[in-house]
Amino acid sequence: MIREIREGLEGVVAASTRLSLVDGAAGRLVFAGYLAEEIAPRASFEEMAHLLWTGRLPSVAELETLTSALASRRRLPAATVLLMREAARHRTPAMDALRMAVSTLSLGRAENDQEDAWTLVAAFPAIIGGYWRLRQGLEPLDVRDDLSHAEHFLHQIFNVETSAGGVGRERARALETYLNTVSDHGFNASTFAARVIASTHSDLVSAITGAIGALKGPLHGGAPGPALEMVFEIGKPERAEAVILDKLKRGERLMGFGHRVYKVRDPRADILAAAAERFYTTEGDRELYQLALFVEKTALRLLAKERPGRPLHTNVEFYTALLLHGLGLPPELFTPTFAAGRVLGWSAHCLEQLHQGRLIRPESVYNGPTEQRFQALSQRAS
Ligand code: ACO
Repeated sequence: MIREIREGLEGVVAASTRLSLVDGAAGRLVFAGYLAEEIAPRASFEEMAHLLWTGRLPSVAELETLTSALASRRRLPAATVLLMREAARHRTPAMDALRMAVSTLSLGRAENDQEDAWTLVAAFPAIIGGYWRLRQGLEPLDVRDDLSHAEHFLHQIFNVETSAGGVGRERARALETYLNTVSDHGFNASTFAARVIASTHSDLVSAITGAIGALKGPLHGGAPGPALEMVFEIGKPERAEAVILDKLKRGERLMGFGHRVYKVRDPRADILAAAAERFYTTEGDRELYQLALFVEKTALRLLAKERPGRPLHTNVEFYTALLLHGLGLPPELFTPTFAAGRVLGWSAHCLEQLHQGRLIRPESVYNGPTEQRFQALSQRAS
């Protein structure tokens, strides 16, 4: 019996969710009832966490409880730091180190869904920042419980006390807007991977370890590094046309453009573009920012001309690269930082799947032979 195959599960609806609405035709993203552009630049990451985990924004008392629940779970187990040291000695890429470190968070703890969600979200900044410092030959910093989640993320990388001017409100706010913006996005590949694992009633640490592996690929969360590389490669506006055209003629994909669901501009690109605009007015390399705007415009024009009929627009990754670069993050930390925001959505999806979901188990159409006869090893042609 031949059944229809939907390669890449495109257009297949696998479950319902209350977490986010991704309207690909209208370019609209809604987080638990709130338009992304309404909530992402205004809410704290902790408020966003309460919204995704419980379905509503917190009261003052609830926010205090959640803030201290996260702050008190920032310290990493000794074995996690040991593994990070070993990974740094081997110069392991940061996403692989993050995946390995996260899987150790089960050590010495009994499985508990909500507890696991808090611990995972709280631990990402210490893992990412601590690992990056080890790679630079520096020691990881002690965790602090007096900083917000976004401030703590910057502190774990840059050290608030020693960096010029400390973390800075503008920087923390820009990072917080970014983390909120990418915190959830329907059934993207990494979230789906996490839900598949959770659907077997496995635990959150396992599910999120798998999700990190899915996010790493350049077709998903691995695009911002290459997107920024393209801007650097172009170097000056007058080279944009030639470099981009050359890439397209060679059949290359432009990183930071195109999306499986959005057939119009990714609304997250606008939120991050506004955050980048705010940020680069006061700090950072304004010239690079202007160049990136020009590169985006040129890329859109050339994509329309060279790939006619395909709706290729700017996606979230283009402005991710620009914003995170402005915050002083190295390209190797772009995808781990994406993971630090998305771990919130992953964990909320796992909780939703565990409470209401069904085992995810699609089928395949077999297209190999069926009539082979077994031959003893000695009788097989060499
Ligand atoms: N540059 C040039 N051409 C492109 C691009 C691009 N960025 N994206 C798609 N195309 C072309 C493809 O070559 C293909 O052409 P063809 O029909 O002649 O073969 C056509 O558009 C359709 O491409 P698909 O791969 O079928 O589209 P899909 O929905 O699978 O792709 C994806 C979505 C993977 C994001 C794709 O647009 C891409 O590779 N973009 C670049 C990588 C990127 O920015 N990834 C981040 C996505 S956002 C996120 O995951 C957080």
